Amino acid sequence: MSVERTFVAIKPDGVQRGLIGEILIRFEQKGFKLIGLKQITASRELAEKHYGVHRDRPFFSGLVDFITSGPVVAMVWEGDGVIASARKLIGATKPLEAEPGTIRGDLAINIGRNVIHGSDGVDTAAFEIGLWFQEAELNDWIPSDQSWRVEG
Ligand code: RTP
Ligand code: MG
Repeated sequence: MSVERTFVAIKPDGVQRGLIGEILIRFEQKGFKLIGLKQITASRELAEKHYGVHRDRPFFSGLVDFITSGPVVAMVWEGDGVIASARKLIGATKPLEAEPGTIRGDLAINIGRNVIHGSDGVDTAAFEIGLWFQEAELNDWIPSDQSWRVEG
């Protein structure tokens, strides 16, 4: 495994439902390192870029309406294999198919209100981190238990 960074965002439904703490704790307790964190109400332009891959899908405009409807909590997490691991913590896109124990499995029932986003690969992670965060908002730091957080 190699040390990676991924972009994770608590969507407006997660913020409105008071789930910020419940979600943050799962990444924190897993052992990943928080590199960036902010609350931001996305512009339409930002949301359309973020979900640009879905531009031609029928749900696109509704998705952009929703994601811009209120604040999201944007995060960057770092760690060994964090991109795939975050997707596991998040669970399947359709909350009714997401396993119990995952964020969507535990906290959501509706695909259009599935609480959280996570980058799906190395390239999307780099793209999304650059889209949502300025370089100066990302914190390089060494937790005192850093050596316990890496494999081997
Ligand atoms: P996300 O990008 O938000 O982390 O979700 P994901 O990778 O699990 O799923 P993705 O295929 O990228 O879809 C992005 C978001 O679009 C909404 N969606 N609605 N009505 C539908 O059929 C449909 N399909 C996708 C979901 O909110 C999904 O999270
Ligand atoms: Mg996706």
